[in-house]
Amino acid sequence: METEIIPAILVKTKQDLIERINRVENSVSSVHIDVMDNKFVPNKTVGSESFSGLPKGVSYEFHWMVENPQEHIAKTKGPHLHIIHVEAIRDWSAIRKAAKEAGGKLGIAINPSTPLEKLEPYLKGDAGVSRVLVMSVEPGFDGQKYMASVEEKIRRLRMKFPKLHIEVDGGINPATAQSASRAGADKLAAASAIFNASDTRSAVKAIMESAKEGKRKSS
Ligand code: DX5
Ligand code: ZN
Repeated sequence: METEIIPAILVKTKQDLIERINRVENSVSSVHIDVMDNKFVPNKTVGSESFSGLPKGVSYEFHWMVENPQEHIAKTKGPHLHIIHVEAIRDWSAIRKAAKEAGGKLGIAINPSTPLEKLEPYLKGDAGVSRVLVMSVEPGFDGQKYMASVEEKIRRLRMKFPKLHIEVDGGINPATAQSASRAGADKLAAASAIFNASDTRSAVKAIMESAKEGKRKSS
């Protein structure tokens, strides 16, 4: 499975969103947009009103840290990956319907303190979930410290689902990328380690190199 580094963008205005996409669009194939409603988490970011007409050269994954994700997904049309939180699922069929009608796909995120068992119903059979996002910080803010304790979850998921895309989000930098990747993650989302760097392309490269090293050590 190819390793992918995905810049994460947590901003409050469309202008900042576009500016950050522009900084990385030539060095990556997808971008992770953090969306918060000040209800599911105590912070608010740009929302679906800002997601039309985004730059076309990359694909987008939306990390929905919101209540009632189906309402937001319905307003975000296009071939995007919608990652919703397992803790926010109230009406799974409404969420699936919204993603399908919007032309997108679904992934599921899980908080550090939520047991893996909560994911089981959504990974069975043809539930249509191709990605699990393992949170390695409490959702809400960028710049937090990576919680290595979630690697046990990554290992268990990887053992059970060899082909599942497992993304890790929170506190990823060249050092933590290596251990997340060694545990079995193939996609790494990172905000601070990329956007606080003056050269985002080299920052992505540094994370990629150490993720690959972690992968070599795991096999
Ligand atoms: C946290 C967000 C993360 C965050 C990552 O709620 O989901 O995507 O922006 O930021 P860093 O890489 O700085 O931990
Ligand atoms: Zn995120």
